[in-house]
Amino acid sequence: MPYYSDELVEEVRSANDIVDVISGYVRLQKKGRDYFGLCPFHNERSPSFSVSQGKQMYYCFGCGAGGNALTFLMQYENATFQEALEILAQKAGIDLPKQELSGKERQEADRRARLLEINKVAAKYFYAQLRMEQGQRGMEYFANRGLSPEIMKKFGLGYSNKFSDDLYQYLRKQGYEDGILKDSGLVTIEESRGGRDKFWNRVMFPIMDVNHRVIGFGGRVMGEGEPKYLNSPETKIFDKSRNLYGLNIARSSRRPGILLCEGYMDVIALHQAGFDNAVASLGTSFTQGHASLLKRYTKEVYCTFDSDGAGTKAALRAIPILKDAGISVKIISMEPYKDPDEFIRNQGAKSYQERINNAKNSFMFEIEALEREFDLQDPESKTLFYNAIAEKILQFEEELERDNYIEAVAKLYQIGYENLRKLVMHLGTRAGFGREVRSLKSGINENKKKAKEDGIKQSQRLMLTWLIEMPELFEVVTPYIQPEDFTEELYQKAAKEVFAQYENGELNPAKIISMFTDEEQQSEIAGLFHAKLLNVETKTEREKALKETIIKVKESSISFRSHHLDPSDLEGLQKLVADKKRLQELLGVRFTLE
Ligand code: CTP
Ligand code: MN
Repeated sequence: MPYYSDELVEEVRSANDIVDVISGYVRLQKKGRDYFGLCPFHNERSPSFSVSQGKQMYYCFGCGAGGNALTFLMQYENATFQEALEILAQKAGIDLPKQELSGKERQEADRRARLLEINKVAAKYFYAQLRMEQGQRGMEYFANRGLSPEIMKKFGLGYSNKFSDDLYQYLRKQGYEDGILKDSGLVTIEESRGGRDKFWNRVMFPIMDVNHRVIGFGGRVMGEGEPKYLNSPETKIFDKSRNLYGLNIARSSRRPGILLCEGYMDVIALHQAGFDNAVASLGTSFTQGHASLLKRYTKEVYCTFDSDGAGTKAALRAIPILKDAGISVKIISMEPYKDPDEFIRNQGAKSYQERINNAKNSFMFEIEALEREFDLQDPESKTLFYNAIAEKILQFEEELERDNYIEAVAKLYQIGYENLRKLVMHLGTRAGFGREVRSLKSGINENKKKAKEDGIKQSQRLMLTWLIEMPELFEVVTPYIQPEDFTEELYQKAAKEVFAQYENGELNPAKIISMFTDEEQQSEIAGLFHAKLLNVETKTEREKALKETIIKVKESSISFRSHHLDPSDLEGLQKLVADKKRLQELLGVRFTLE
């Protein structure tokens, strides 16, 4: 929930020019009325990321990221709405009233800030120790593992020395009390012995969030010993299921996709070899939280896990989680080496790139793992295997996609394509899931329906974009179209605001965006004001396109209402009849644009 009033939000937002804000992150070039640059939210070679000074919005025609200056900070800095507002207020020198945070919230915020501070101080301490005489063993360890001084610096690697309470003493001297130190997870406080360090005689890997703030540590024994890695416990600032090692760097990589590995050393070795898009989870298994975090930065993940059984298991677990988040997944094999670190050390970057190029489709990877559960020499077991395949293929809702996989699997296992297809159809029908069966038979109809829905949405977007870009159209459009005609809920909310703003003589689409605090909704609204009109050059073509758009919006509104009308709603019925008549008239009207 926003803590601040709409007026204050708007004051802060409008005090910042979006071109200034974004120029701090993206190199922009002016072309015509707008600015263009390479989109920081997806990988691209030619700029489709646009910033409009007039609209005070940005929009990427490639990936659909968009919004106002607040949205940009939320997306780029991974900030909350609140934090984005604070950044913009500071830039503009506006004091946000402090009392809007309750006493408890403020206390909580202070505590988080102190924990971040302690972790930062500790990271600097470990970093310095590694580079002093007492850190020599740590230095040798890293050097033996092939790390360069530059990469060690980039990842802030450090060393916790042999004394078991020196960090504790150091932090106490800096003025931190036992209570907060205990909460940091870096020390334990025992009544008999006092404070003791959690980490000692280990090489240290600071773990950072996407904003480069140290939130915890991993520490490795130098050589053999148990446990091999020791990690900070979860704290108020360290949520292992929502952070990934290396993502602070990988998020701004220009490489396509994200490489997901298992270990810290794998990430570092890959970055050193030039693959600066590598990340790893934090000694825990992959979660939905990780997937939605990754979704902000990429559409494609390459799992580059260990070659052993545990690595395969981890991949099989991660695949559905990633796919559910809408990310496509490929699997890279590290055979015959143990993990990416060893692979790179033995084979180098070029071979690793080849492995990326030959990454396996996740579905085929799953099928091959499934195969190992069956004995294909035994006819009964083999039949069961084919059934299991067919069942898995049913997970694809699109007929075309299903067919492609049937074809691929049939080829791999030399099953007749038709036989496998029949088996899939049969299972789909027998399973009797209403929806599945229907979509099996009517895949084409489903697609048609979806295309129609997309077409309706597109015409509603077009209408709004036009109204924003050419306000003079309001006079022409409003006799036929009202906000209620926008059938999508979110579109209708936006339309209501646009129409109201026009009435008040202040069209300001960027303001509408910050009425929504959810980043995804903000982008969707930005999309409403950036619909692309193809092939309309001449005045006559524009007039024709406008008329078609008005008709489409009106038609879909009428059809929506006829489907949802309550038969006892006489007034609604009358309006519907009147609207239908109006639509008939409209067909005969000729629009003239100046
Ligand atoms: N891990 C952990 N605790 C352990 C072992 C492993 O938290 N006792 C986590 C660490 O995050 C580690 C990852 O699991 O980076 C992978 O572990 P593993 O494959 O055993 O080690 P490697 O990454 O190969 O480590 P190294 O190359 O340093 O031996
Ligand atoms: Mn390893």
